Amino acid sequence: MSKNEIFQSCIIYFSGTGSTAYFASKLGEYLRNHNCTVELKRLVKDLKVDLLKYDLIGFSSPVWVWRAPRVVTSFLSKLRLPNIPYFTFLTSGRNFGNGPYSMFKSLKNSGGIDLIYSTLIQDQGNLSIEKLESLRKQAPKKYFLLSIVGTISTYRWQMQAFVGKKKVDLNKCSKCKLCFTKICPSKAISPSTNNTPIFHENLCVGCMGCINLCPQLAIKTRSSKNRQPFVQYAPYILQNV
Ligand SMILES: Cc1cc2nc3c(=O)[nH]c(=O)nc-3n(C[C@H](O)[C@H](O)[C@H](O)COP(=O)(O)O)c2cc1C
Ligand code: SF4
Ligand code: SF4
Repeated sequence: MSKNEIFQSCIIYFSGTGSTAYFASKLGEYLRNHNCTVELKRLVKDLKVDLLKYDLIGFSSPVWVWRAPRVVTSFLSKLRLPNIPYFTFLTSGRNFGNGPYSMFKSLKNSGGIDLIYSTLIQDQGNLSIEKLESLRKQAPKKYFLLSIVGTISTYRWQMQAFVGKKKVDLNKCSKCKLCFTKICPSKAISPSTNNTPIFHENLCVGCMGCINLCPQLAIKTRSSKNRQPFVQYAPYILQNV
């Protein structure tokens, strides 16, 4: 490949509250500065994407219960990437556990070429492009006990129970439509006739997006009532930055 040849790349990210969307966007900037075109795609229900046209693909996810969310692993495990180089990276609060392993395992039969295992991003908010080059990379080690917990406690009904039943405060809702057009990745919110949200709890994957990112903070659950919302990266979901 000559020095000026352009790589076509794509980053597919799953993100509930925006952190992973933010880092995907930063990585996109980095790749654009290194002779790549970059398409950013958020992983939402029924995402259709032709990955065979790319020279390089990034997959990105938050860590949930020491692993990548099931919605991510089931998407990844169906992919066929014949000889296409790919990399994965994860965001997390504190403990990545089997996050890298679950990404590795889901993609290992894809036929793609795993470039750098998983890159791990913990220092939310302080990432600069320069720092991207020195991020921690982790080989896909399996932590047996964590994998048992992650396997038996992350089914969709458990994630729904963890978040709790959502209620909208109609006095606060401004009918901006964001929760059902931009925020929810799983089609678990639809509009009522007057554009307030209707929740389909059976489709909720428990990403916490609607509770944190509704601009009016009109969506609450029993467990979220007294919690400060996490809005640091809200624009990366609300505006698809
Ligand atoms: C359901 C759930 C489970 C989580 N489990 C873990 C975990 O096991 N370890 C950890 O370090 N962070 C955990 N986190 C924190 C997220 O990994 C972290 O906030 C991530 O950056 C969120 O990404 P997002 O804003 O793109 O959704 C969890 C968050 C949620 C919502
Ligand atoms: S995002 Fe909030 S304010 Fe906007 S329609 Fe949904 S509940 Fe109402
Ligand atoms: S309903 Fe809310 S918590 Fe559930 S998947 Fe949609 S945005 Fe996430």
